[in-house]
Amino acid sequence: MLLKVAILGGSGYTGGELIRLLLNHSQVKITAITSERSAGKPVYLLFPNLRISDRFEHVDVKKLVEKADLFFLCLPHKTSQDVVYQLYKAGKKVIDLSADYRIKDPSVYEEWYKTPHLYPALLKKAVYGLPELYRKKIKNARIIANPGCYPTSAILGIAPAMKNPAVDIDSIIVDSKSGVSGAGRNPDLPFMFSEANESVKAYAVTTHRHTPEIEQELSFISKKDVKVNFTPHLIPMDRGILSTIYVKLKNRKQFTPALLSEAGRALDGSQLNELYQKFYAKEPFVRVLKSGKYPNTKAVKGTNFCDIAVFFDKRKNSLIIVSAIDNLLKGASGQAVQNMNIMYGFEETEGLKPFAPYP
Ligand SMILES: NC(=O)c1ccc[n+]([C@@H]2O[C@H](COP(=O)([O-])OP(=O)(O)OC[C@H]3O[C@@H](n4cnc5c(N)ncnc54)[C@H](OP(=O)(O)O)[C@@H]3O)[C@@H](O)[C@H]2O)c1
Repeated sequence: MLLKVAILGGSGYTGGELIRLLLNHSQVKITAITSERSAGKPVYLLFPNLRISDRFEHVDVKKLVEKADLFFLCLPHKTSQDVVYQLYKAGKKVIDLSADYRIKDPSVYEEWYKTPHLYPALLKKAVYGLPELYRKKIKNARIIANPGCYPTSAILGIAPAMKNPAVDIDSIIVDSKSGVSGAGRNPDLPFMFSEANESVKAYAVTTHRHTPEIEQELSFISKKDVKVNFTPHLIPMDRGILSTIYVKLKNRKQFTPALLSEAGRALDGSQLNELYQKFYAKEPFVRVLKSGKYPNTKAVKGTNFCDIAVFFDKRKNSLIIVSAIDNLLKGASGQAVQNMNIMYGFEETEGLKPFAPYP
């Protein structure tokens, strides 16, 4: 029997990608798609690329719980909070693409999102849906907090190095560039063609809401309080994120031989690529590129891949890591489908296979 799934906020960019992916998934049937502004209208009017006869409906949780078992929420943060709670109470499973259940500490959520979290107890039930770090927990979760797009590229880029004693955890700089679809489908002046085209700009410097999410996950990995400099940039393309991450290494003379673990030695260049290859060896969607190759957004466009390359800067005794994802796929809807596959024991790549094998 096919799994019945609903997509709430199905008229936006992440919703549209979910519909496209799930129409090609062998184990699921889409039973409801919502939009407030387009309720009653056929879905194909907003997504002419999809051959689908469904119509949008309103978010009416009482009605929707009868229709599906798993709910993908592609709603804005704040809106998601209560919908997740209602669905959880009704015994349903939820994959929330918004930020509402990603930050474990409600006071941190309130500080960055400028609104209190109404269901702090439920935060404990939510699992951060980054399969490369939390696959086992995802399997048994009822609420998945699907990671943000920038955090996915940053965390996957740094994670293999993070436990290493040689890493100066106070030195991490994440410099990211994103295409315009990262801001959603709502018309907003800075994201209009004539504003964004032929221009590159930094925004939300020191204040971007993905900062605490990156810090939370890097702190969990290293078991230390990590703070990062994170600066996002808007670039004139539809989709894709490229992050360049700078990490200083401590002076090796400070270490006792015991502290220089196998992984520690690996950080000084020759074995660095091997360390990353090993860390992601079993991951279907992380590709550590061969030495000298550079990730780029075109190579991951339309796929659930995260491409990573890692470099050792001998002169500065530091690592430079470059990662690329499609913000709407590994950064959102693709990762959500990957999480669903894990939760329901489907093949992890189902619905996400690229059309042609990578050379
Ligand atoms: N875009 C990305 O790259 C990306 C990546 C990762 C995570 N996310 C997160 O995923 C979520 C969806 O992002 P998106 O880019 O798809 O946004 P979007 O294109 O703006 O779509 C938002 C959707 O939510 C619906 N909606 C808005 N306000 C609502 C309300 N009060 N009640 C019910 N439905 C409402 C909209 O329906 P209408 O048709 O009524 O407007 C639309 O379907 C956001 O939380 C975002 O932060 C986005």
